[in-house]
Amino acid sequence: MKVLVIGGGGREHSIAWKLSQSPQIKELYLIPGNGGTSEIGENVNISLNEIVEVADFAKEKKIDYTVVGPESPLVSGIVDEFEKRGLNIFGPSKNASIIEGSKVYAKRFMKKYEIPTAKFKVANTPEEAQSFIKQKIFNFPYVIKADGLAGGKGSIIVKSKEEAYKAVEDLMINQKFGSAGEKVVFEEFLKGVETSFMVFSDGKRGFPLVTSKDYKRLEDGDKGPNTGGMGAISPSPYVDYDLIKDIQRKIVMPTIYGMGQESRMFKGLLYPGLMLTEEGPKVLEYNCRFGDPETQAIMMRLKTDLLEIIDGVIHNTIKDINIEWSLEPSACVVLVSGGYPEKYEKGKEIYGLKRAKMIEGVQIFHAGTKKENGKYYTNGGRVLNICAMAPSLNKVMEKIYSAISFISFEGMRYRSDIGMEKK
Ligand SMILES: Nc1ncnc2c1ncn2[C@@H]1O[C@H](COP(=O)(O)OP(=O)(O)O)[C@@H](O)[C@H]1O
Ligand SMILES: [Mg+2]
Repeated sequence: MKVLVIGGGGREHSIAWKLSQSPQIKELYLIPGNGGTSEIGENVNISLNEIVEVADFAKEKKIDYTVVGPESPLVSGIVDEFEKRGLNIFGPSKNASIIEGSKVYAKRFMKKYEIPTAKFKVANTPEEAQSFIKQKIFNFPYVIKADGLAGGKGSIIVKSKEEAYKAVEDLMINQKFGSAGEKVVFEEFLKGVETSFMVFSDGKRGFPLVTSKDYKRLEDGDKGPNTGGMGAISPSPYVDYDLIKDIQRKIVMPTIYGMGQESRMFKGLLYPGLMLTEEGPKVLEYNCRFGDPETQAIMMRLKTDLLEIIDGVIHNTIKDINIEWSLEPSACVVLVSGGYPEKYEKGKEIYGLKRAKMIEGVQIFHAGTKKENGKYYTNGGRVLNICAMAPSLNKVMEKIYSAISFISFEGMRYRSDIGMEKK
């Protein structure tokens, strides 16, 4: 079998790593991949948003299965482009990816199908948004969100009138994220613990992955700005069996059902971001793909052949597959470039990877790295994902942090409190 993974982050490295263990796979390609994936497959230098070119490549190479990591090619319709050519691809169609691609759509959808979420109002113009602020439609803090994709930076929690006007100016008037900010959602602030929940969806039912919790803030103690993710642990200490059943019943099932009703059948990975509130779980947003860095931690625990699962979703046989997971916990700590999530420098040499990898149970998934003449250099904000699995979370963290102690690059930083909350 020939398999293609689309993306170049830690998520895609971990997916490719898991796939590379499948005895069925003979050739593995990544578009564009990163410094680490070149060790397990062939990196192909095509822009992942050039969906026609990507599909042409897959057709020419006779790729048997393609797995898509990031949201933007999905929202642009990469799945439809592949299916037109008769190629197997894992991910939702353009029609179904709207659930992540438009927050306005997602909110109206949830309202229609009575899926618990924060109260909201849609502003179609800056004037309308400004009038919402004047009318004090919600108490502070509340959230103003760009409708479209903004690389995880389009949701702004505002604590005052000034901040609210500034958010509207950035998103709608100055269009910091382009057309993503043409419309915005005003949303009431939900209190609680945030959690991720991922299911494989065959369009009829959702088959849950093991639970996980990610750490979005830059600094220890959940301080500092939001990032693309600084770490993750699996399982989530906040989600027990009863809560899983509750989430399935109130959120996952009605979502998959509703999408079918709307002629937007959702096949692929469905990942609602949730807030566990006093009134139960509520949806913050939907994602239409694997989470990053939760996937890195979760792939460590997956025992079943990932290719079998991918095939099961595509060909509607996933209900017959017994997906097996290790009972041991796992975690992922992200090493980032100094300055991230704002401006940072690239091209710093990375030292110590060989030593770090020698610790038993540790896996290193690359993100923003590149390999040149046998050396590794930083090539992005999130650089490396240091993951481990062990009999206890304490042991996991011990392994990860001792691996990290061998690694260095100029400006390197990371959180030192992943997996350490009291609960
Ligand atoms: N209604 C809300 N109440 C409280 N926090 C929120 C709310 N909506 C979003 N957030 C916070 O903002 C983050 C980003 O919002 P989200 O809707 O996930 O958008 P995106 O991931 O596209 O930036 C969330 O992970 C959460 O921490
Ligand atoms: Mg989010």
